[in-house]
Amino acid sequence: MDDIVVSLKNITKRFPGIVANDRVNFELRRGEVHTLLGENGAGKSTLMNILDGIYQPDEGEIYINGKLVEIKNPSDAMRLGIGMIHQHFMLVETLTVLENVILGLAEQGLYINKKEISKRIEEVSDRYNLCINPSTKIWQLSVGEQQRVEIIKTLFRGAQILILDEPTAVLTPQEVEVSFEIYKQMIEEGKSIIFISHKLNEVMDISDRITVLRKGKYIGTVDTDKITEKELATMMVGREVLFRLERKPHERKDKVLQVSNLKALDDKGLLALNGLNLEVFSGEIYGLAGVAGNGQKILSEAIAGLRKVIDGKITIAGKDLTNASASEIFAHGVSYIPPDRLKMGLVPNLSSVDNAILRRYYKPPIYNRHLINYSEAERYAKKLIEEYDIMVPREDAPVKLLSGGNMQKLLLAREISEQPKLLIAVHPTRGLDVGATEFVRRELLKQRDNGVAVLLISEDLDEIFMISDRIGVIYEGQILDTFDIKEAKIEKVGLLMAGMKSEREFSEQVCSTV
Ligand SMILES: Nc1ncnc2c1ncn2[C@@H]1O[C@H](COP(=O)(O)OP(=O)(O)O)[C@@H](O)[C@H]1O
Ligand SMILES: [Mg+2]
Repeated sequence: MDDIVVSLKNITKRFPGIVANDRVNFELRRGEVHTLLGENGAGKSTLMNILDGIYQPDEGEIYINGKLVEIKNPSDAMRLGIGMIHQHFMLVETLTVLENVILGLAEQGLYINKKEISKRIEEVSDRYNLCINPSTKIWQLSVGEQQRVEIIKTLFRGAQILILDEPTAVLTPQEVEVSFEIYKQMIEEGKSIIFISHKLNEVMDISDRITVLRKGKYIGTVDTDKITEKELATMMVGREVLFRLERKPHERKDKVLQVSNLKALDDKGLLALNGLNLEVFSGEIYGLAGVAGNGQKILSEAIAGLRKVIDGKITIAGKDLTNASASEIFAHGVSYIPPDRLKMGLVPNLSSVDNAILRRYYKPPIYNRHLINYSEAERYAKKLIEEYDIMVPREDAPVKLLSGGNMQKLLLAREISEQPKLLIAVHPTRGLDVGATEFVRRELLKQRDNGVAVLLISEDLDEIFMISDRIGVIYEGQILDTFDIKEAKIEKVGLLMAGMKSEREFSEQVCSTV
């Protein structure tokens, strides 16, 4: 008999206007890693928040070790041996590891002996190879280390069932491997793990079984060794997915963008670009890989004219445009797809028509005798909407009502239609479903084939490797290295993303505190 520790039956959870979980079933066996797989918005976090007592289901039943239970809050969950590590950590940055662990215990009303707890943290850290020193302050730790502190906190509260909500989203490939070793160790100690992800290769690697959700619905549960990545993708998306995009051989031509020795500050006044050098040529996609916060956002803003630099030079097609205004830079053929569509790229309360013409309302034929010719504007918007197959409720409805994928298509359509020399695309597929993602990547490739220089900034390494011609790695405001796609290795790029030149340096870093 299988030993079933968690069984969720017919769970339904509604939010205003959406059924986040629609009669979902899920079952966890003792000692297994069970993945919950689904696209963004499929309902994974909601389902696990229900198991962790953060939300109450509208319908359905929860069984723990065969017994029907009600989980009213996270303390109830904890008493049942359930602990969740959230997508966004819940640590106090200014406190030490020890103090954060104590905070968690104090909430439970337990007797606190600092020395004793400190010793036990060290023991747990050793046992699972977590390499965490109890007296370190949280802000001094990398994201990967902070995640391990969350794991310690959870283990300390006696969790037997661990829920990890997209833990690998913020990790480099090497850190992912380290965390998988930790999970295996926890499994050996008799714990059970629910792992949430939408990355197929990882899921195939770590799970015993996989449960797929799509648009809030339960699609099925499969044994990992009886399914292929392609079949999983089909379950997840609901149609066949292409893993490879057709690519013509790359024809690199003139230098379009040259960035030399660039220095710029971030919003806090800290040096975010520290003498950065970069070149992008016509007819290529240059993929810039890096962990968030290493200067990529600042770089894109500096090139687009949205941020002043303090030193260095930016030239576009031979013209010095260092610290020129955004409109001047746009006039010289630079289009920009910003990371945050609704904050920077589109005006949420304006219609699709107004958003479509943002780049040309001051040019004829839309601008005519000091007025905007609205029927010309509409004609232009309709053309984009048709060409790019954008789903809008009505052309005059505010764009905030569009789905993420359709907003991104509109933005892309508008920027590409200006026939840029340089296209800067920052996280162009973040938050999009597989269909829209495929569309956006194809469009970027099309631009490259048309001779546009494309600077692709993405945290998604698979994306970077899929469509780039050259790959650069940014770390602490500098490009550490650049590779031709034919020679680029994902392991090497991963190490550089963590600022390390070799495997050896990586293993030293992981356990530097022990
Ligand atoms: N607190 C909430 N209020 C309203 N809608 C929510 C809330 N939490 C999640 N949703 C919606 O429920 C759906 C499922 O979300 P979520 O469970 O976070 O998906 P996933 O974790 O699979 O990406 C999404 O459409 C999301 O917008
Ligand atoms: Mg989620």
